[in-house]
Amino acid sequence: MEVQKDEDFRPNFHFTPEKNWMNDPNGMFFYNGYFHLFFQHYPDDNVWGPMHWGHAISTDMITWKEQPIALEPDEKGYIFSGSAVVDNENTSGFGKDGKVPIVAMFTYHDPKGAEAGEIDHQSQAIAYSLDEGKTWTKYEGNPVIENPGIKDFRDPKVIWDGIHQQWVMVLAADDKSMFYISKNLKDWELASEFGKGLGAHGGVWECPDFFPMYVEDSDEVKWVLIQSLNPGGYNGGSGTQYFIGDFDGKEFTPVDEMQDLGEDHNYWIDFGKDNYAGVTWANIPEENGRKLFIGWMSNWQYAQEVPTETWRSAMTVARELKLEKNDGSYMITSVPARELKNYRSINYKEENVKINGTTKLIDSAKIDLSSAEIRFKISDLKQTDYKFSLSNSQGDELVFGYDHAEKEFYLDRSKAGQTGFSEDFANKISTAPRISDAGDLTGIIILDKTSVELFFDDGKTVMTEIFFPNYPWEQLSVSAENGEFTLDQIDAYQLKF
Ligand code: FRU
Repeated sequence: MEVQKDEDFRPNFHFTPEKNWMNDPNGMFFYNGYFHLFFQHYPDDNVWGPMHWGHAISTDMITWKEQPIALEPDEKGYIFSGSAVVDNENTSGFGKDGKVPIVAMFTYHDPKGAEAGEIDHQSQAIAYSLDEGKTWTKYEGNPVIENPGIKDFRDPKVIWDGIHQQWVMVLAADDKSMFYISKNLKDWELASEFGKGLGAHGGVWECPDFFPMYVEDSDEVKWVLIQSLNPGGYNGGSGTQYFIGDFDGKEFTPVDEMQDLGEDHNYWIDFGKDNYAGVTWANIPEENGRKLFIGWMSNWQYAQEVPTETWRSAMTVARELKLEKNDGSYMITSVPARELKNYRSINYKEENVKINGTTKLIDSAKIDLSSAEIRFKISDLKQTDYKFSLSNSQGDELVFGYDHAEKEFYLDRSKAGQTGFSEDFANKISTAPRISDAGDLTGIIILDKTSVELFFDDGKTVMTEIFFPNYPWEQLSVSAENGEFTLDQIDAYQLKF
């Protein structure tokens, strides 16, 4: 039996570029029925290189159509990560003949400056589109923000701040975030800085996002700062932490419980190793107020070595973020965007399954485990640990479960197929704290050919990881360890695209 490689590994439904290299999602906006996704792209090789913005569109954030490249490097540099907004009021003046300008803001990375060791080789620039994101014109006044003498100074994320009637932009600068404000997207004023010495700092801060959100079921508004860093993630390498606080139009102040947040904390958008540089969509209609997020499903530790040749890297499934307050403390939860449900076909359901030892739940004759959504609920876990295992006839196994004594979820891909391409890929079992205290434990498992996304306790703890099995998964089983338990409910859906 030939083992799987390259195209066998291409996800069934997670976005991948047709060819060659991809990293961060960029410039996401919604307009006229389409979700736009741009991405860091090197169209000439399957490793990182001179960065372009690739482009894809979707009507539901689940299935994507790749478009021609949107932005190409020029004499000012490579086109690094950034964002885009719909300038409905034409504050920028780029609009013409009633056409609404879409304005993108990105980082110019000057490779010559970088090679020469100059610290001012990154600056911020803008481009606009008058045809709904198809083609772009770079602004002749670029850069709009010169480098102030900071080596890592990049990844501008712009939002319209309706509360203070201004554009707000956050970017990452070495070990902090910097906030800028503007009335016209061209002239920017530095408003404040945030984060030195606060939260995780095991690496350079990159790719922030910043926006207000309603606390679930209330009128309370808090501001959320998403802040990726590399390395220094919860399970090593790239990771995305967040802060919650207040914003007075200039300064961001974290809530009391986050005032002196240390390195080790539990405020991570995703605890798994493969969700990086994720940000939210702009211009989602106000009335539905959804915060929709997508991340890059890889990690800089091994992204350029994974065993695919034609293309490299996928995005996570689109997710909806919520802001919850429990006993006075705030947290972000995330679950798959509800649009994914439209792809459900066959459903296999069981209730009250007693688990004592190992029970086979699903095999690939019932449900193709490379395109599936599985939901479960356990209400009498007591002191028992549970363990799910995906396996195939090649002897590969992907394991994830819950350890009661540690109050921790874990994910172990060390035997899940090809791992030898990088020492960092499977040298440690990833863990994540159980944040919920609820008696019932629920989980959503989203499975594609080469990824698993785990959403526990309604998205309070999330883990995303990729893997490369030698053969597709043929069976899913569950075991009870140190006792027994009842699986109150298991719902498995085939996803069809
Ligand atoms: C994050 C990142 C960004 C940068 C881009 C370059 O993965 O390093 O900070 O803009 O990738 O491709």
